Amino acid sequence: MTGNQTPQATPKVSLKQYCRQEAETASLAQRLASSIREGMKNSPQSHFNIALEGDLGTGKTTFARHLIQGLGYEGKVKSPTYTLCEPYELHSNQDSFTAHHFDLYRMRDPLEWQEAGFAEYFDVPGFCLIEWPEKAEGTLPTFDIQITLAAGAEENERAIELNASSEQGKKVLERIQKTQAAPN
Ligand SMILES: Nc1ncnc2c1ncn2[C@@H]1O[C@H](COP(=O)(O)OP(=O)(O)O)[C@@H](O)[C@H]1O
Ligand SMILES: [Mg+2]
Repeated sequence: MTGNQTPQATPKVSLKQYCRQEAETASLAQRLASSIREGMKNSPQSHFNIALEGDLGTGKTTFARHLIQGLGYEGKVKSPTYTLCEPYELHSNQDSFTAHHFDLYRMRDPLEWQEAGFAEYFDVPGFCLIEWPEKAEGTLPTFDIQITLAAGAEENERAIELNASSEQGKKVLERIQKTQAAPN
């Protein structure tokens, strides 16, 4: 008898960083943008879901703004607080895709995002960034990366943790870890 076999644990990929000011948060968001871009070169039809969690004022919209701009969007990225969702068309030499930035804080019902017709945004090439995913109470498609922001010890410090929750998400985070480990 071999006894109970414990299932092989797949290694979790996560990355935590203390950003002492907004510029450091911007730099982390830009590194994430570069890694997503790299992944999209190989599979341009792919779709990513990124959750942004954390209390009010921790920097979810700020992170999303730097990420969308890091992907090449040159206009203003405003908070989708009142519209629930803002779309951004992104282009590169080879491809074009859409980033949909959600803020579900004001939803009155967990399924309001579906009633508003947003479900199709989860199928198009590109990605969805979702602030306050917990307001949808588990009705959203699965996430590739979950980002958690928390206030730090100093006024402008934020602890930012990125966790991969899919194979696709893992590849994105692993590329960031490699570039961090590389010598200057
Ligand atoms: N290290 C930091 N990272 C992100 N935002 C920061 C940082 N330090 C200060 N801030 C400020 O905190 C605020 C975060 O607001 P916002 O992004 O709207 O938060 P949320 O979307 O989580 O409610 C912005 O005014 C931003 O300039
Ligand atoms: Mg916000």
